[in-house]
Amino acid sequence: MNILVTGGTGYIASHTAVKLLAAGHQLVLVDNLANSNIAVLDRIALLSGQKPHFYQADIGNYAALSAIFTAHQIDAVIHFAGLKAVGESAQKPLHYYRENVAGSLQLLEVMQEFAVKSLIFSSSATVYGDPRELPLTEQSPIQPQSVYGRTKWMVEQIIADHCSADPSFSAVCLRYFNPVGAHPSGLMGEDPNGIPNNLLPFISQVAIGRREQLSVFGNDYPTADGTGVRDYIHVQDLAEGHRLALKLTHTPGCHRFNLGTGSGVSVLEMVDAFRAVSGHPVPLIICPRRTGDVAACYADAAKAQHELGWQAQLNLTDMVADTWRWQQLNPQGYQTPPAKLKEKL
Ligand code: NAD
Ligand code: UFG
Repeated sequence: MNILVTGGTGYIASHTAVKLLAAGHQLVLVDNLANSNIAVLDRIALLSGQKPHFYQADIGNYAALSAIFTAHQIDAVIHFAGLKAVGESAQKPLHYYRENVAGSLQLLEVMQEFAVKSLIFSSSATVYGDPRELPLTEQSPIQPQSVYGRTKWMVEQIIADHCSADPSFSAVCLRYFNPVGAHPSGLMGEDPNGIPNNLLPFISQVAIGRREQLSVFGNDYPTADGTGVRDYIHVQDLAEGHRLALKLTHTPGCHRFNLGTGSGVSVLEMVDAFRAVSGHPVPLIICPRRTGDVAACYADAAKAQHELGWQAQLNLTDMVADTWRWQQLNPQGYQTPPAKLKEKL
């Protein structure tokens, strides 16, 4: 298929791109580089032997999008582009609604204009908010607690309404749990700007000596060791979930799937796993809870298994080992000069 990948140089999209190129798909990537680095394209080329078409453009830009749809015969769109920082979304709500909601609307309108009838959308487990019952199924109550979460749920609703109005349109909303890990080669991974918000990139930077210590946000949750529990999922498993979701390209309607492993891991368990794999110390201090955090969140991913034939294959050790390899090879992320990278490979 000819697939347009929005947010194509981002963390999850870049891993998915390598997987889709290996499966024989043709890709057109679009990204405004708001949160990614152009160097990702060379890494994709190195891993796949192909350099996909790339456009530096904003999905909110009608003229740019329609020029891309005019230049390429697109069969399906995988829509990753968006902003994802929960804390920032509370400080800049209008910006988040503009980028995530209005941007998605613009994309859907251009797809309609060019009669492109198939979409995969990056949604999030954050749409469930504070779970009343675990594990979370696709039927669990939706109650997003952040502006970011509300943008994801709004886009899901817009997509569902569009599917009702156009019975030939097919959409798959993938609700990711906590994506972590890196490509097993160590050539691609997560490269957050500034201080990482998320647990694993932070631990990894502490282990490599870029940061002094980890702040553990609360050890008084009603969990086994008192720290927050999440369903971490390897980015390579997520990438495979997108490849399999393309099966539904010709099945009209709005399909929703949880993508998670089904097991919860606490903050302290993650720290222990990182110490064991890296052999490095991870100093930590216990801090107050972070506003908006829930005690525990993990998926029931049975629907994805039954309908897509998808199941997470990689375990916590794989997630940590691949993150650590990426961190060691690229201490400055994608800024790491290629010559330095070659020395280490
Ligand atoms: P990312 O920031 O690495 O990737 C998003 C990409 O979109 C970036 O390259 C960014 O430059 C680009 N982008 C942002 N706004 C754009 C715009 N208006 N036009 C064009 N490009 C734009 O993030 P990621 O972790 O790879 O996340 C991908 C998607 O998955 C996002 O929609 C995110 O909300 C969703 N998601 C992520 C997580 C997570 O924890 N990583 C969890 C659930 C859902
Ligand atoms: N944590 C710490 N210290 C840190 C960072 C995180 O103790 O420095 C703890 C958090 O309190 C939480 C756990 O580690 O208990 C995981 O936190 P993350 O920030 O890594 O992940 P979240 O579950 O808060 O959120 C992530 C993404 C959201 C996404 C959500 C569900 O950031 O965008 O997963 O998919 F919506």
